[in-house]
Amino acid sequence: MCGIIGIVSREAVADRLIDGLKRLEYRGYDSAGIATIHDGIMDRRRAPGKLVNLAREVAAHPLPGAIGIAHTRWATHGAPTTGNAHPHATANVCLVHNGIIENFKPLRAEVIAAGCHLESDTDSEVVAHLIELALARGASPDEAVAQTLDRLHGAFSFAILFKQHPGLLYGARRGSPLVVGQGDGEMFLGSDALGLAPFTSRIAYLEEGDWVRLSADDVTIFDAAGGRVERPFITSSASAAVIEKGNHRHYMEKEIHEQPIVVAQTLGAYVDPLAETVALPAMPFDLASVKRVQIVGCGSALLAGQVATYWIEALARVPTSIENASEYRYRDPVYEEGGLCLFISQSGETADTLAALRHAKAGGQMVAAVVNVDTSTMARETQLLLPTHAGPEVGVASTKAFTCQLAVLAAFAIALGKAKGRVPAAEEARLVQLLEQVPAAMNAALGAEADILALAPALSRARDILYVGRGPDYPMALEGALKLKEISYIHAEGYAAGELKHGPIALIDEHVPVIVIAPSGPRFDKTVSNMQEVMARGGRVVLLSDAAGVAAHGAGTTAAITLPTVDPFISPLVTAVPVQLLAYHVAVAKGTDVDQPRNLAKSVTVE
Ligand code: G6P
Repeated sequence: MCGIIGIVSREAVADRLIDGLKRLEYRGYDSAGIATIHDGIMDRRRAPGKLVNLAREVAAHPLPGAIGIAHTRWATHGAPTTGNAHPHATANVCLVHNGIIENFKPLRAEVIAAGCHLESDTDSEVVAHLIELALARGASPDEAVAQTLDRLHGAFSFAILFKQHPGLLYGARRGSPLVVGQGDGEMFLGSDALGLAPFTSRIAYLEEGDWVRLSADDVTIFDAAGGRVERPFITSSASAAVIEKGNHRHYMEKEIHEQPIVVAQTLGAYVDPLAETVALPAMPFDLASVKRVQIVGCGSALLAGQVATYWIEALARVPTSIENASEYRYRDPVYEEGGLCLFISQSGETADTLAALRHAKAGGQMVAAVVNVDTSTMARETQLLLPTHAGPEVGVASTKAFTCQLAVLAAFAIALGKAKGRVPAAEEARLVQLLEQVPAAMNAALGAEADILALAPALSRARDILYVGRGPDYPMALEGALKLKEISYIHAEGYAAGELKHGPIALIDEHVPVIVIAPSGPRFDKTVSNMQEVMARGGRVVLLSDAAGVAAHGAGTTAAITLPTVDPFISPLVTAVPVQLLAYHVAVAKGTDVDQPRNLAKSVTVE
């Protein structure tokens, strides 16, 4: 999974390709590369690591040319070295690839047997050789592209250059996204509209199996069968603005602090504070007919969904399950009439979630999606779009998108409860009043930052950290552990507090801090009992609770962080803040790359 961009123009393209890559770096940052055609040669610059290394390389060795392609990589096949960096080139063909070619092993053997010399360990280079071999058989560029695409299994998008045709840029899409941008006397390819936003807002989305030939003035799109097709150009709303960090050291810090505002913005789209009602967008299906909900996602989005299972079952009394998107379609899920599948994704592009969405749609389920990027594939393919209004999230670890997902899911649970006749008007008004309190409560929770900062150096020395909670605080414990491990590289696990005694308690000693998420409420006493079991075994406890909880049981803990007192219904939105701050400050204390942690990417577009 990677970001790709291409430009065919009459003016130099290298600087703009690098600018576009900056906006696609959320898709991976293991290496980057660029190629142009100029003076009859195909010329490449590649560098391992983040884009800044490539930019330095291009500054030192400038790359002229009015046509070019570029790539930012998240490594699948082959280590993140210069040799494995894209573009991959043969004598006459050069390409960048996003996705995985599943049958690359036999294809690799085939091109080697045909005498090709492979320079990299990637699946992508093999495709360049297949195209080169087709050219050698006398195929035109169109024929070589079409014949090669027919041979490939798996998910991909490509941008391709031909040395002998310096005015033509080819693209292809199957499984991985690719958009065409139309400029004034120039054309673009990009993994998304965001990458092209500084250059054009005239965007056409290629469909599955499409491939395209671009010149500076023309767009010719073919479908998988080779027939010419038209794909409409629309005006994209993707912003060209560069997202700044402001006064913050990291995007993640900025995004944590933005939460009261963006959650308020998101709630504003779902809640009428005067009427004290919730309102979802126009319904493509009848919510009252929903008999079962399956929530599907990956990473933090999955955990937001897990919190929502408690809300939906409590308010609507509709059986609700949580489904890991990467497992979902392969276990042949049971689809029943009245089944609603609810997909959650910040990017709207995560390959597993998207594939599950398509599977559920084909299975006749009602399909809804909570998505932050409104130009994304999921936003376009879902029946019911429930947008979050978090704004662009840059930090790889999701923060504000997660809490905005929670806000939408809380409103959705109330709406479903209403539709099922389980939430009378007075209860709806009470719940809406609670949601209205969320931004201020999140703001108050940000006030705990100094206490969390003080804890960070000691926690940063731990090798393992456990998080525990009950009810909706259990997925919050999972989220806390996920956040911590992804940005600080400390091993962390989240457990349902009651589950601790069934195994994990064996890990407890004075070296394993336990973060206990226990706001006052119906489960408080039980969670505190589990906390006592940890302390009785010499464990170091950090208690996250409200003033009453800390007053009652803060004694004996290593630290107790006081959060605002809120109703249990909205407490996950508030608890999210210290959980994120803890991960953030521990990572800063460890000196890791908070916004772009190793091996990760913001949007995972391969299975
Ligand atoms: C990656 C990111 C996570 C994110 C997950 C799902 O793993 O690092 O922060 O939660 O993908 O992404 P999505 O865009 O579908 O929410």
